Amino acid sequence: MSLTTFSTERVSERVGRDADLPAKITIPYLSNKKTLRRPITAVTAYDYASARLVDEAGLDLVLVGDSLAMVMQGHENTLAVTMDEMLLYTRGVRRALRRALLVADMPFGSYQTDDREGVANAVRFVKEAGAEAVKLEGGRERKDLVRRMVDAEIPVMGHLGLTPQSVHRMGGYKVQGKTMEAIDELRTDAFALEEAGCFAIVLEGMPRELARIVSEELKIPTIGIGAGPDCDGQILVLHDLMNMTFSTPAKFVRRYADVAGVMREALGEYRQDVEARTFPSDAESYHLSSEMRELMAVSAEAR
Ligand code: KIV
Repeated sequence: MSLTTFSTERVSERVGRDADLPAKITIPYLSNKKTLRRPITAVTAYDYASARLVDEAGLDLVLVGDSLAMVMQGHENTLAVTMDEMLLYTRGVRRALRRALLVADMPFGSYQTDDREGVANAVRFVKEAGAEAVKLEGGRERKDLVRRMVDAEIPVMGHLGLTPQSVHRMGGYKVQGKTMEAIDELRTDAFALEEAGCFAIVLEGMPRELARIVSEELKIPTIGIGAGPDCDGQILVLHDLMNMTFSTPAKFVRRYADVAGVMREALGEYRQDVEARTFPSDAESYHLSSEMRELMAVSAEAR
């Protein structure tokens, strides 16, 4: 275990004392942000350390996305991750967050086959992992399920457009909503999710013009990813914005840091230092007390 400790005062605690910002982000607060036309800030996180940094940075919402199947587990798409795995990652993130709203992503297969099972799995996220809301993909076909979850007191976030769990149906990760028919379908889906009780909808991989229309038409906030700047908020996959994905970024990704570069350099230096025996130094070593050293020397002489 690392002997390094985090500073005791978190940025989130300082933020909480700011008269303008709440100590805890809630769903009503996010709705109000839309009314006030203040952008919702969101990002994914999957583990304690990065979630803590996200919280300290003052973002509104953390999604434990099923994208973890790709960026944390190395799968080629999001389909393989299981409920139990999602719960494990969500618990780590829960321990890190004090201010941001925690949303857990319902993994593929956990809600598509049976509404009762879907509600039961959503309950698990709240009860066993401390999630404050769940996210699921799909439109009209999820209306009943969303209603049942909301009736069970579980806030639900929708997800429309490029929905990664439909990768096989879509024939790859393709921008959606480009024809008149697709635009109409997506708008109908968005209204259906709002009516069913979703508190927000992620709009992924669609023309900005469509995302703007949907954002203007809905009362609930939209959170965009690859959907242009006119959504009520933005979300990115943490590993994309930090350059931790080992692939060419999609058009909509802005890289804010080169964490892979920093880690490569640090690990290369560490390896060199170990090989050259310059790590650890004497100052980085624990020592016996002088009395103990003397005792050791005496007993060595006696041997
Ligand atoms: O799983 C995920 O990271 C997501 C975001 C892309 C919204 O669903």
